[in-house]
Amino acid sequence: MRARRTLAWGILGTGKIAKVLAEAIKQSSTGHLAAVGSRSIESARAFARDWDIPRAFGSYDEVLSCKEVDAVYISLPNRLHAEWTIRCAAAGKHILCEKPFTVNRAEAERAIEAVRAAKVFLMEAFMYRCHPQTKRLVEIVRRGEIGEVRLIQASFSFNMGLNLQNIRLSNGEAGGGIMDVGCYPISMARLIAGAAGGNPFLNPSEVRGTAFIGEQSRVDQQAAASLKFPGGCVADLSCGTQVATDSAVRVWGSEGHILVPVPWKPADKHARLVVLRKGETSPTEELIDSPAPLYTMQVDAVAAAIRNHDTEVKSPGMTWADTLGNMAALDAWRASVGLSFDCERR
Ligand SMILES: NC(=O)c1ccc[n+]([C@@H]2O[C@H](COP(=O)([O-])OP(=O)(O)OC[C@H]3O[C@@H](n4cnc5c(N)ncnc54)[C@H](OP(=O)(O)O)[C@@H]3O)[C@@H](O)[C@H]2O)c1
Repeated sequence: MRARRTLAWGILGTGKIAKVLAEAIKQSSTGHLAAVGSRSIESARAFARDWDIPRAFGSYDEVLSCKEVDAVYISLPNRLHAEWTIRCAAAGKHILCEKPFTVNRAEAERAIEAVRAAKVFLMEAFMYRCHPQTKRLVEIVRRGEIGEVRLIQASFSFNMGLNLQNIRLSNGEAGGGIMDVGCYPISMARLIAGAAGGNPFLNPSEVRGTAFIGEQSRVDQQAAASLKFPGGCVADLSCGTQVATDSAVRVWGSEGHILVPVPWKPADKHARLVVLRKGETSPTEELIDSPAPLYTMQVDAVAAAIRNHDTEVKSPGMTWADTLGNMAALDAWRASVGLSFDCERR
């Protein structure tokens, strides 16, 4: 019997997360690594050697013109996501693009228009949406097991030190905590508020933020936001690159609550939800196993959708409409703290 051809991936960029995805694709049974492109041919060759990739290019364009590549993973700084999404679409390549999808909602609309016109697949790489823990969380909320959802608390922060060379601390690269990690809690709050009403997501009617913006980085280094959703649910979000918090999610309902201790990078085995259901006096722990490591599940979700001739995944995977709503919420958070990027003024 002839072996099924797996999805051929090309990677743009050889940075930190590109290495994680290369390993994830290597472990996947649905895809294989076909090419890598870098601004530097030396870097592309070293990356290709480390992950047994047959083609190394000294430019991103060469990955796009490579006939052996079906899908491109964009692991570049935020500022470059829209441009390379549009170029990938024009080259007829399917796309997995790192979060946040673009610098702002207007860019996201342009990029999605290009993807729609090219009829290729696109997903914003929110890996936590591909883990069964997220699916289970949505299910518990949808079924009303904690009553009416009234308050969502979510954070994602870590302390990376004040390394001004890092893209996360660069206004020029559209960095900052809101873009780098704040995009997770805001996407989670929108997901949960949506699930509470039986919908894939819900956009907030109000976003009020606050942030400390570094003098040198000119981006937010720690930030918080209060959201109000139509129907009355509110959310309390925080993020930062200079302070480590518990980075957990708590969903408070009228008759119970849910704690998600590890919402963003859940383990493959024994991911844990702690749920106090209505009518119960003490919380119960639910352990969730996943069929593959987190990032492998993400590339497998892309491959499955493409095999099915779908151009987007199904919720709780990140749909295009969800991405557009998230970008609008990020715009509102940034506007409320007075943060804009150099590339938005050109
Ligand atoms: N989903 C996740 O878990 C996760 C985790 C981390 C990051 N991310 C996202 O992934 C993207 C990349 O983050 P990262 O941590 O991998 O960053 P990184 O280590 O700095 O890598 C970014 C890569 O982009 C390329 N690049 C092109 N122009 C650049 C420029 N002007 N400055 C710096 N690099 C440039 C470089 O590759 P070449 O030199 O090879 O061209 C560089 O290695 C960001 O959008 C981030 O939000 C996602």
